[in-house]
Amino acid sequence: MSKGRIFSGMQPSGKFHLGNYLGALETWVKLQNEYDCFFSIVDWHALTSAYEDTSKISDNIYEMALDWLSAGLDPEKNVIFVQSQVKEHAELHLLLSMITPLSWLERVPTYKDKLQQLGAMGKEINTYGFLGYPELMTADIILYKADTVPVGEDQIPHLELAREITRRFNNLYRPVFPEPQASLSQAAVLPGIDGRKMSKSYGNEIPYAAPPDELRARVRLMVTDPQRVRKTDPGNPDVCTVYTFHKIFNKEETTDIETNCRHAGIGCVDCKKKLAENMVVALADIYTRRIELEANPKRVREILAAGAERARKVAAVTMEEVRSAMNI
Ligand code: TRP
Repeated sequence: MSKGRIFSGMQPSGKFHLGNYLGALETWVKLQNEYDCFFSIVDWHALTSAYEDTSKISDNIYEMALDWLSAGLDPEKNVIFVQSQVKEHAELHLLLSMITPLSWLERVPTYKDKLQQLGAMGKEINTYGFLGYPELMTADIILYKADTVPVGEDQIPHLELAREITRRFNNLYRPVFPEPQASLSQAAVLPGIDGRKMSKSYGNEIPYAAPPDELRARVRLMVTDPQRVRKTDPGNPDVCTVYTFHKIFNKEETTDIETNCRHAGIGCVDCKKKLAENMVVALADIYTRRIELEANPKRVREILAAGAERARKVAAVTMEEVRSAMNI
């Protein structure tokens, strides 16, 4: 049986935090053993909304590659590359734009939402490129004839559109592409240290690949049950951020922690220490790999160059088929 093929991408839009890791990368690392995977740093997508200041994009690409590799994505098993290094994405995007009714793009729910949201922040994204965001995403996926696309919930409307565009192409010319399916990653949602959604804009994030001491310091700042003032007060783990983290990073002791918290058998300071040490161990490989790779930037660039070359080979074959199906 041949393996299914996966395509997924991420925008290089700045530093990763631990929530991003658990949200997507951890799933990718598991999938790399079951599928034939293409993972792309989609820098053209980043330009659809951040075209004004492009000064950081190249650093962000490099940082993202470091993050992916530190997470354990294996460049031998997967094709890891930067979107703009494979020009076929642009060619297919152009050709697909010929057959996509404007109304399909305009009715994507995330389109108007984001237009308003970013507009309110003073960003002008009433552009051709931004409207075409899901079109480019479709090109990314079907260029490799991927059948499975691991994404978060927010990307589902884009995947639906990708399927529609794919069907239209196949019907108009000939069946060249499989219809890609979304595969929702059901990762645990990691709150920030203040219990809200983890986000850099809240300042509540735990950085990705943080050194052990930084991890410990962030855990010390975590909010616990606000009703539990003294160590002798019984606590409520259900409202405690530290407990939420125990459930993810210290599964074995979760039941003990819960009981002890409810009966004031463990204090918050000790409970945090336990968590921090478990996190340090659980994330040790990521940290070590990151340090090793940081010392060897040339190796990271080589991995990306080799990935682009492998991607280009597959993309070139697809584009031959596309051109021939369209008689051009
Ligand atoms: N839009 C995706 C996101 O922001 C990134 C992306 C671009 C992507 N092209 C893709 C994801 C193709 C999956 C498949 O998360």
